[in-house]
Parts: sequence; C-alpha cells; structure tokens
Amino acid sequence: QPTGKLAGKKIVVSAGGTREPLDPVRYLTNHSSGKMGFAIAQAAQEAGAEVTLIAANTSLPVPANVKLEQVETARDLSVAVKQAFTTADVLVMAAAVADFRPAEVANQKIKKTANNEMMTLKLIRNPDILKEIGPMKQPSQVVVGFAAETNDLVQNAEKKIKAKKLDLIVANDVSKKGIGFNADNNQVTFLFADGRRQKTQVESKSQIARQLIDILSQQFLK
Ligand code: PMT
Repeated sequence: QPTGKLAGKKIVVSAGGTREPLDPVRYLTNHSSGKMGFAIAQAAQEAGAEVTLIAANTSLPVPANVKLEQVETARDLSVAVKQAFTTADVLVMAAAVADFRPAEVANQKIKKTANNEMMTLKLIRNPDILKEIGPMKQPSQVVVGFAAETNDLVQNAEKKIKAKKLDLIVANDVSKKGIGFNADNNQVTFLFADGRRQKTQVESKSQIARQLIDILSQQFLK
C-alpha cells in the first residue's frame, strides 16, 4: 500500500511540447523539454500517488512506477488527457500545447521551386484542452494549469485561471535565461482562484514540483 501525502490519489500530468505536422518531414513546435512535467510526475509518485504521465515528444527517462502515454499533436494530447481525466483526482497541464496547427498537411515533402521565394502558411486553431476539461470537471476534481508568459506574467495568468476555470495556475516567466523552457531550474508564481499568490525562488524543477505537491495535498485534497 502506498504511503505519503498523495496516497490513494490519481494524478494525470501532461508534459512536453506538441508537434504539428506540415508535411511528412516537418512540424511546428516549441522549446518544451518535458522536464517540468516529468519532475511533477516524479514528485507525485514519491508522494504516493498513482501517476499517469502524458508526454508529447520528450526524450527524458521515465520516473519509476509512473505510467507513460506518448502523444504527438495537440489533438492527440486532447484525446489522451480527456480519457485519463475521467478517473483522475488531479490534472496538471504542464505541456506546452500549440494553439495553432497547419491547416493542411501535405502528403509529400513541400519543395522549393523557381517561383516560390516566399510562402504563406495557413494555420487553424487547435482545441483548448483545459477549456474542454472545464465542463467535465466534478466538484472533487482539481485542475491545475500553467501559464507560460513573456510579459505581464501575473495579469495574463489571472486571465487564464478565469477563462479556463482552474483551481490553481502556475505562472512561469519564460523570458528569463536559466528558467522556464528546457532549463533545469525554474521560478514560478502559484496563483489561486481566490486571488492569493505565492512566488518561489529560483530552484530546481524537482523542488518546484514538490512545492506544487505540498500545495495540492494541504489545500486541495484534504
Ligand atoms: O518542458 P520544460 O522544458 O521543462 O518547460 C516547462 C514549461 C515552460 C513548458 C512549463 O513550465 C509551462 O509553462 N507549461 C505551459 C506551456 C503553455 O502552453 O502555456 P500557455 O500559457 O500557452 O497555456 C496555458 C495552459 O493551457 C497550460 O496549462 C497549457 O497546457 C494549456 N493549454 C494551452 C493551449 C491549448 N490549446 N490547450 C491547453 O490546454
């Protein structure tokens, strides 16, 4: 029997960056390595939770005793997250999801020709996974989002916590060197739905993850 702060709880964590194909050899993506989400999955497992880690395009070692599901696109991630959420106590969306994808995926490699010096890509919106989770949420379920921002960190995160009806948002300044995307360290502000804020120091992603687990166990899963 697992022991620990999250014993008996099921937690679903998403990590990594989605890839949106353009043709058989190219895709649009972002700089997410998956380190933040993997650290959260590991911390939750060490706290006794049953953990499902839904990973988009990562190449990190999978933490022990964590169930891994691999996905590629935002639409794949959406299907996997919604499925796993139906039986989860907590969802943490640390994945960096592409908001748009190429409107058409070419069957063959797109070629340069004598007269295409310039090309225009047409993009269409991807599903907003957290917005789709909102109506599925039972009162006992806890939903945590991240907000990756390059400007107006707290204001933008506050808009997202409301628009996505989250219990907690982890605001991540991704404009600073040494934290955020692909770094080993991070610095975040935890923003609660009731307006409270808690800013961390620059710490390892494992330490940030353990702080999130403490907040979940002390304030949401009593
Ligand atoms: O993976 P690392 O290299 O360790 O980097 C960590 C990180 C910077 C990726 C991570 O800390 C982080 O900030 N993740 C969220 C990235 C993101 O997509 O942020 P956003 O502000 O665009 O989205 C807000 C929230 O909505 C996120 O929880 C996101 O998962 C979710 N979302 C976004 C778009 C979409 N179509 N559907 C969503 O559910």
